Amino acid sequence: MSTQTLLVTGGAGFIGANFILYWLANHPDSRVINLDLLTYAGNLETLHQIESLPNYTFVQGDIGNTELVNKIMADVDTVVHFAAETHVDRSIKNPDIFLTTNILGTHTLLKAALKHHVKRFHHISTDEVFGSLELGSTKKFTEKTGYDPRSPYSASKAASDHLVRAYGETYGLPYTISNCSNNYGEYQFPEKIIPLAITNLMAGRRIPVYGDGLNVRDWLYVQDHCRAIELILTTGQEHQTYLIGGLSHDVSNLELIKTILRLMNHAETEFDFVTDRPGHDQRYAVDWSYIHQSLGWSPTVSLEEGLQRTIDWYLAHPDWWQPLKTKNQAYFESHYAGSKSI
Ligand SMILES: NC(=O)c1ccc[n+]([C@@H]2O[C@H](COP(=O)([O-])OP(=O)(O)OC[C@H]3O[C@@H](n4cnc5c(N)ncnc54)[C@H](O)[C@@H]3O)[C@@H](O)[C@H]2O)c1
Repeated sequence: MSTQTLLVTGGAGFIGANFILYWLANHPDSRVINLDLLTYAGNLETLHQIESLPNYTFVQGDIGNTELVNKIMADVDTVVHFAAETHVDRSIKNPDIFLTTNILGTHTLLKAALKHHVKRFHHISTDEVFGSLELGSTKKFTEKTGYDPRSPYSASKAASDHLVRAYGETYGLPYTISNCSNNYGEYQFPEKIIPLAITNLMAGRRIPVYGDGLNVRDWLYVQDHCRAIELILTTGQEHQTYLIGGLSHDVSNLELIKTILRLMNHAETEFDFVTDRPGHDQRYAVDWSYIHQSLGWSPTVSLEEGLQRTIDWYLAHPDWWQPLKTKNQAYFESHYAGSKSI
């Protein structure tokens, strides 16, 4: 793997950028091309520390641009496909772009990868394709769970997963897929719940919590995720899907917020319940035993430790997140209309 060229799509986003930093630190002999459109979610500041490396190239462009994608793909061994529209709330308000980017964009990449004989197409997907588990149940998603997406976001990701598998079965494209749970950590855009909560508290505001706050999520520290992707690329089996989850155990959004408040020395009551998200999935839980048994991966960072690291990072880097919050103030205000707490 040491002299290969990776095409990372969406590498200016949260997980993609963390992955590029991780990959180049651990595989300095490989080359990385980062193709990113720089939507509201893309931020080159994250990659400032590596932008002048000779083995790193940034290309601003759309994964749906056939000509551009074919030009880039000609030199590529491995594709790691992160680029997507990713925020469920935005998909409820404007689903069209989710279908365009997540489905058609993925298809453009698949066609080019096949044409240029890439050795591996790794598709990053989500556990949200499996739908919602009942609150209070002990069931977990596995590689065998049937698809049951319930939001335009998860439906578009499910469609992209199906397309990737179809290209594997029909045309023999060497692919792998990983479906992961909710990531958190450094460099996450402050519209997602953990950085939203941390940056609100830093700005002297309260935290908005959807509905009754009892929805349960599975939390994966982003560095643990990057390590899992590395293992799949280096030792994973072609045509295989891997589920990647964290060490949290059925933590509700309310418990999560109260933990953040405690770690940041704020009163437990500094949050407001706000109108729930339509069709809000109740519970996600990921069984990661298959990737553990087959590739030896396990998450290593507990939720409390990961939250502390994340809080420390946001406290030390207001220069990274403050401009994003200011630039997107109109979105935050309209989105949490009725709440005092954006
Ligand atoms: N964040 C999570 O908790 C989570 C959980 C499960 C799966 N995922 C998946 O992981 C991947 C990365 O998620 P993230 O949280 O880093 O997303 P993000 O929203 O932070 O970043 C997405 C990146 O994709 C880029 N992009 C969007 N449309 C593009 C296009 N048409 N062409 C090129 N680039 C484009 C954006 O500019 C941005 O840099 C996504 O595929 C997402 O579905 C994320």
